[in-house]
Amino acid sequence: MADRPTVARTVPSLRRALAPFRDTGERIALVPTMGALHRGHLALVREARRRARRVVVSIFVNPTQFAPHEDFGSYPRGFAADLKALQTAKADLVWAPSAEVMYPAGFATRIEPQGAAKAGLEDKFRPHFFGGVATVVAKLFTQTAPDFALFGEKDYQQLRVVTQMAQDLDLAVKVIGVPTVREQDGLALSSRNAYLSAAERSAASLLYRVLKASAVRIKQGEPIEMVLEEARAEIGRAGFALDYLEARHALTLAPIVSRKDGPIRLLVAAKIGKTRLIDNIAV
Ligand code: PAJ
Repeated sequence: MADRPTVARTVPSLRRALAPFRDTGERIALVPTMGALHRGHLALVREARRRARRVVVSIFVNPTQFAPHEDFGSYPRGFAADLKALQTAKADLVWAPSAEVMYPAGFATRIEPQGAAKAGLEDKFRPHFFGGVATVVAKLFTQTAPDFALFGEKDYQQLRVVTQMAQDLDLAVKVIGVPTVREQDGLALSSRNAYLSAAERSAASLLYRVLKASAVRIKQGEPIEMVLEEARAEIGRAGFALDYLEARHALTLAPIVSRKDGPIRLLVAAKIGKTRLIDNIAV
């Protein structure tokens, strides 16, 4: 069994734990998470280990990316189980600051990403989300100074926003996207899937089936807006409250009308019962 990963809870102790890695020129990969780790997160850790000798996993349920009506208070937390999973996955270091360490009294800076962060997708339904994500990820990047940072394609708009931010702020980190890990029936793994009732859980895989079928039809040349309209109706009939189903440029997330406009990504967000699910695929 691998050693338990070291846990750092303050910035000085994080720096002390990283110093020996840096002194010997070992490459460092960071996997930012909010804990409640599942196989999706662990796929990021695995990819991190492929890229770098040392793997740091941050666990921080970031209050600034939740709106007051959202699930910050009830977000699943299970530090002991997470630590065990990270030991098995052979992470070297767990960075688990408290909210007071991350945002000490007097904290007064916020990064407000534009571009993909204003695409009218997640931002339209969670207006505070990407400002909170960009600010905390920028802090995680400067605290850890990793060579690589791994993010899931599952949160596709987030991946685009963080990639652009690292580039715009000249951060010396390479942001890498990792394909979405799914359940057998196609449902994307998510910490929030724990909220689903049995009936909701069995209905939830429809989102991926509709995405896949729509991608095939668009690839075959059917008109994008017609395919999306039919897919939206199907999602509604299955009992979801749809926030959006859109075809966007895979890099800029700008609206797209034809396949000639560039590589296409289909992105969906919908609520089933009280649980909001998101997913996306390439066309
Ligand atoms: P969290 O939801 O915990 O996700 C952490 C990372 O795991 C993200 O990069 C996310 O895209 C990835 N991930 C989640 N489910 C996945 C799946 N099924 N397959 C592959 N990757 C998956 O995303 C956040 O935390 C936060 O916003 C964070 C970036 C940590 C900033 O607070």
